[in-house]
Amino acid sequence: MGGEVLMKVEELSLHAGGRVLQHGLTFDVRAGEVLAICGASGCGKSTLLRHMIGLQAPRTGRVLWTAGGAERDVQGEDPPRREIGVAFQAGALWSSMTVGENLMLPLELYTELDAAERERQARFKLALAGLDDPATFDAEPSQLSGGMRKRAAIARALMLDPPLVCLDEPSAGLDPLTSARLDDLILQLKRELGTGIVLVTHELESLFAVADRLLFLDVQARTATALGPPAELRDHGPDAVREFLTRGAYQPHSQPQPQPESA
Ligand SMILES: Nc1ncnc2c1ncn2[C@@H]1O[C@H](COP(=O)(O)OP(=O)(O)OP(=O)(O)O)[C@@H](O)[C@H]1O
Ligand SMILES: [Mg+2]
Repeated sequence: MGGEVLMKVEELSLHAGGRVLQHGLTFDVRAGEVLAICGASGCGKSTLLRHMIGLQAPRTGRVLWTAGGAERDVQGEDPPRREIGVAFQAGALWSSMTVGENLMLPLELYTELDAAERERQARFKLALAGLDDPATFDAEPSQLSGGMRKRAAIARALMLDPPLVCLDEPSAGLDPLTSARLDDLILQLKRELGTGIVLVTHELESLFAVADRLLFLDVQARTATALGPPAELRDHGPDAVREFLTRGAYQPHSQPQPQPESA
């Protein structure tokens, strides 16, 4: 867990539709660790991921890519596009392309590999993600089950062998067995490749199985109220975090009230 710091998030605030979702978020992500991001639905987890991969520009604070020693702002002139793989919550694959074409696209965009090598690597990543059936490569995304689509989206996130992978609720809606196989894949990436993994999840079993640290975004306080090993937070964390980690269904007592931007 004491790996190189890949990313630093500093004093980041998250906004949506005139509301402050979160403020003062400061944490880092290290090589070879699984950092889970948790919190009630709507607290800003997916929004945070969009900032971390540079898809959304912060109003306050910054996100720095620090692997290799230099500091590169993800919003700067040399953003770390190849270094961060991402599988979005909806597991979006391009529906107009086959699964194989979806996977080979990052290689076409960012490498000089020839077609044969692109296909070889895409098939390898599919197998790594547990999609061993060769027919999957030529399938349309719409022909796959929800679980297979999620795994294909993860395989695509791994195409460029990124040092950091962000997965937004990869196991939501999957059966327990498929979900457990995803956990195994995450642990394999971490152990064998030293990949840093940011994992948004609600699933307690998965959380305790794979996460080294947990960042808890509190929907009431509108900031991170805990960062640490899940077992430690379950036993000694703030009330809301202990509740979340013991019942898995932390319900805020009231909905967050709209807060003016200037507040
Ligand atoms: N483009 C947008 N315009 C207005 N509001 C938005 C926009 N995108 C997100 N929101 C709102 O921002 C809040 C946080 O959304 P976000 O998707 O980051 O939450 P989340 O923690 O990922 O939730 P979930 O667990 O349900 O996936 C939600 O209340 C959502 O309605
Ligand atoms: Mg989300």
